[in-house]
Amino acid sequence: TEGIDLAVVAGDGIGTEVVEQGLAVLEAALAPSGTKLTTTEFDLGARRWHATGETLTDEDLEKIKAQDAILLGAIGDPSVPSGVLERGLLLKLRFALDHYVNLRPTKLFQGVSSPLANPGEIDFVVVREGTEGPYVGNGGALRVGTPHEIATEVSVNTAFGVERVVRDAFARAAARPRKHLTLVHKHNVLVHAGHLWRRTVEAVNAEFPDVTTDYAHVDAATIYLTTDPSRFDVIVTDNLFGDILTDQAAAISGGIGLAASANINPDRTAPSMFEPVHGSAPDIAGQGKADPTATILSVALLLDHLGFAAESARVQDAVEADLADRPAAHGGSAVRTTDQVGRDIAARVTE
Ligand code: IPM
Ligand code: MN
Repeated sequence: TEGIDLAVVAGDGIGTEVVEQGLAVLEAALAPSGTKLTTTEFDLGARRWHATGETLTDEDLEKIKAQDAILLGAIGDPSVPSGVLERGLLLKLRFALDHYVNLRPTKLFQGVSSPLANPGEIDFVVVREGTEGPYVGNGGALRVGTPHEIATEVSVNTAFGVERVVRDAFARAAARPRKHLTLVHKHNVLVHAGHLWRRTVEAVNAEFPDVTTDYAHVDAATIYLTTDPSRFDVIVTDNLFGDILTDQAAAISGGIGLAASANINPDRTAPSMFEPVHGSAPDIAGQGKADPTATILSVALLLDHLGFAAESARVQDAVEADLADRPAAHGGSAVRTTDQVGRDIAARVTE
């Protein structure tokens, strides 16, 4: 059997705590098949930056490129100026490794309560473009600090970049029972990019004739996510809209403690990266309070991406069983630590 070489970027704050549990569950899932897991830890994040001034060197990047996948905890600390680690590390990884599909599944599991009064069936996936849009850093500022300051952040959308992510989203929709794709944008205002996205969805739809499509402006989409989230099956959208919508998606389906994500390079020219949607949560770091479930669900996405479909399903099932038991077994007052949740889920994977 072939082994897995995994880059581990635990990062900052609760990142180290949740990644430890993610790795324990990954080990448990792979054990029966005898698949060898080789992990290489990368010291990246706030500590490294304070010590060396480095965020992600070419050497780090080359070593990471030689791995099969990356498991990332969380990046960011209030002691580091805003943007330094985000741009210099997290986004640099996504861009350099061409993670153009930022996959964020949203499901309201049994036993999990939603803040919505009538959530209905929530089971959709957001395909967020990961390498373009306003995230490319194409902009600048003139006359900084004066009353005449002009700041621009230009959203870059290429036909190549839009088409490849739209095609991936169609393929995902075609593989799901409902076969429905919603484009979210704002083409009534952002006419240039909006029309490129709209034309692309129309054109690629010809390759997937059994997928139905519709469209929502991003502001309306936030209403639907609150009033009628069951209308969504697959959402395809740009980098920034996808960032915002997936936080809302997490909020309606049990919170960011449960929200998993995959930064995928579908062409497999570089390793894909799996990470919880949540951040480093410095306020609760080191206290064993963080819920490792989002990381563990990200591990399920990792297994699936590497071709371990059965192992992925076992992890997913273990999490669902754990969640279903939470209200009864743990009743709100008996809150488990990060390690306990990880151990309980790993035990279900093993049993
Ligand atoms: C996310 C985060 C990142 C993003 C930040 C930390 C750069 O919010 O993964 O959703 O905006 O993509
Ligand atoms: Mn975000």
